Amino acid sequence: MSSNKENWGSRVGLILAMAGNAVGLGNFLRFPVQAIQNGGGAFIVPYLVCFLLMGIPLLWIEWSMGRFGGKKGDHSTPFILNTMDKRSFWKYIGVFGIFTNIAVAAYYCYIESWTLSYMYHSVVGSFGGKSPDEVAGFFGSYISLTTIEPIVFWIVCLVLNTWILSKGLSGGVEKVAKIGMPLLILFGILLAIKGITLKAGVDGAIYDGTLGLNYLWTPDFSTIWSPKVWLAAAGQIFFTLSVGMGSIQCYASYVKPKDDIALNAMSAGWMNEFVEVVLGSAIIIPISIGYLGIDKVVELTQSGGLGLGFKTLPYLFQQWGPVLAALAGVMWFGLLFFAGITSSLAMGTPYMGFLQDEFNWTREKSAITFGLLVFAFGLPTVLFFNEGVFDEYDYWAGTVSLVVFALAEVILFAWVFGIDKGWAEINEGSDIKTPVIYKFIIKYITPLFLGFVFFGSLPDIWAKLSAEASIYVHLSRLLLVVLFAGISYLVYVAYKKRVAEGRI
Ligand code: PHE
Repeated sequence: MSSNKENWGSRVGLILAMAGNAVGLGNFLRFPVQAIQNGGGAFIVPYLVCFLLMGIPLLWIEWSMGRFGGKKGDHSTPFILNTMDKRSFWKYIGVFGIFTNIAVAAYYCYIESWTLSYMYHSVVGSFGGKSPDEVAGFFGSYISLTTIEPIVFWIVCLVLNTWILSKGLSGGVEKVAKIGMPLLILFGILLAIKGITLKAGVDGAIYDGTLGLNYLWTPDFSTIWSPKVWLAAAGQIFFTLSVGMGSIQCYASYVKPKDDIALNAMSAGWMNEFVEVVLGSAIIIPISIGYLGIDKVVELTQSGGLGLGFKTLPYLFQQWGPVLAALAGVMWFGLLFFAGITSSLAMGTPYMGFLQDEFNWTREKSAITFGLLVFAFGLPTVLFFNEGVFDEYDYWAGTVSLVVFALAEVILFAWVFGIDKGWAEINEGSDIKTPVIYKFIIKYITPLFLGFVFFGSLPDIWAKLSAEASIYVHLSRLLLVVLFAGISYLVYVAYKKRVAEGRI
């Protein structure tokens, strides 16, 4: 029997934890950059279509799969998938739902740790009186590890995550979400007000903050049929909602069997969209475009997106005087920190749930080994950041895996488990009337759409695999394969154990 007795403390706590899972660095760093790189107004329409046709269906699918598995005592995707269809291979597809979380956490926690350091440097005024190049140079030397500081902050961040995870869902994750989410929204609203009200000619700004917003929100249909824009929009929807990951299923598996999921899923999902399209677009974009203009910002994002938040904003904040600059720095990096930690905690839970279910591990032991795994697989991204290890993890685990897993899930849910049973699962105990059109969408549109996204990405995947790559890139791919194989082996052992105990 499993020792896994976790539970959510309250409905508000569950929704905030799920929203915290979704709201992450992706909302504030990835979304604005994707939008800028893909033509601003040209990005928004595909993005919203992807949310309606892929995001919402996948949220309902994953929440209901989670609650369904939870009733049978399964809290991670290998055996959740296997309770929906007995064929053995599903549990190996389910490996994705543990693998992705560990691999994403391995690079995600590193950025999360930068926010701690940048909060500290904002308070002590490290960016004061520096030129744009000097502030950008600060970031450059940070990731080049010219001092031990990045490693220290990274380890502090991992220990913090491990410690909170060891306190469990209601005692740890939920508490952090209840404090972190409201603060994040407060900081976000204050910074967004500052961004939108930026005036040309005041504090050195060249344009009004609204220039950036117009760039994003004026629909532009010139590139509407570009597959590249659609793939980017789909990728962003996956990443930001945390669908195709396995973490939603895990959180939902701790919901009580008769509890609503249809409304809860919508509450958390729409909260994420509010934070992304309202707050996420009203900070970085208006401020950086207000000071630098559209062309310069487009150019800055061509060489990767993380720079804007860490190289450009801390410099721009300085234009507001030392006190406001420190305050803005603490709010910006504080907001990123809360966004980050409520997501990285979610990444720990599928792995922990699996060990608790299958091997009777305690929560503490599972949390500590998760921390150690993230350390081991994260170390190459820290040490060889400039060699592209980080980007490699992000591509395979943070992008490709999500699409593959989501496609498999939707086929399982709508075609193998069956849409009638699936639709009944979604609506069981529901506090809202779900639009029946979604039954049709889930059965036909979402799988087709996902199929397009998957096949549309194949040329890019192929190009990546056949391109010249450095030894660092090859080794990071190897590490990811080792991780996947390792988890598959554990799933195999767990399966044998179930058979031996007569549980299968
Ligand atoms: N959705 C999170 C973000 O926007 C990322 C995430 C991925 C969270 C996987 C949990 C699991 O940053």
